[in-house]
Amino acid sequence: MEKIVVWYLRMSIIYFIAGALIGLVMILSPGETGYYVSSHTHLNLLGFMSMMIYGVGYHILPKFSGRNIYSPMIMHLQFWIGNAGLTGMVAGWLVLRGDVSHFSQPVLILSALLSLTSVVLFAFNILKTIKAV
Ligand code: HEM
Ligand code: HEM
Repeated sequence: MEKIVVWYLRMSIIYFIAGALIGLVMILSPGETGYYVSSHTHLNLLGFMSMMIYGVGYHILPKFSGRNIYSPMIMHLQFWIGNAGLTGMVAGWLVLRGDVSHFSQPVLILSALLSLTSVVLFAFNILKTIKAV
């Protein structure tokens, strides 16, 4: 398995643990749910689930289609952009106390754009990889 794929999977598991921990914190302090819920959902869905799909997808889909990854460079770049985006979103939400009205904060806007860029890069790279002959 390629090193970068292993890193996608490692980060996925790290986000899963962080997301689950925040879930536990919410159960222990229900009054604070509004503060934590966006970090929890995105650590689990954009972190654990999406990173796992990126890693497994990059490993398995080229094999299924008998091709090489369209752009290994994008695969590496996307890893850093995606992790920077999610980490920034979570930090922004926690520091800004999770209120959606604070989404206008520059750190959240930048992080959201990075997360979106990562999604688009994956879509482009994987669609180009599995393109029918
Ligand atoms: C250790 C595991 C987990 C615990 C203890 C936990 C706990 C919680 C709690 C306490 C809430 C807030 C519920 C409320 O609004 O009062 C919540 C919301 C949520 N959780 Fe988890 N959770 C866990 C794992 C997961 C996982 C694995 C996912 C997704 C893959 C997930 C997705 C969500 C989503 C999407 C919401 C928000 C739902 C909404 O908008 O109302 N959770 N979780
Ligand atoms: C491109 C990256 C993404 C950005 C910038 C983003 C942004 C946001 C924002 C601003 C909210 C409202 C949060 C609040 O009310 O405080 C939200 C909610 C939500 N998002 Fe995302 N999101 C992204 C990706 C995703 C993905 C990939 C999933 C699922 C696979 C997802 C699932 C949810 C869910 C379930 C909620 C409602 C629960 C909550 O308040 O956290 N998001 N998202």
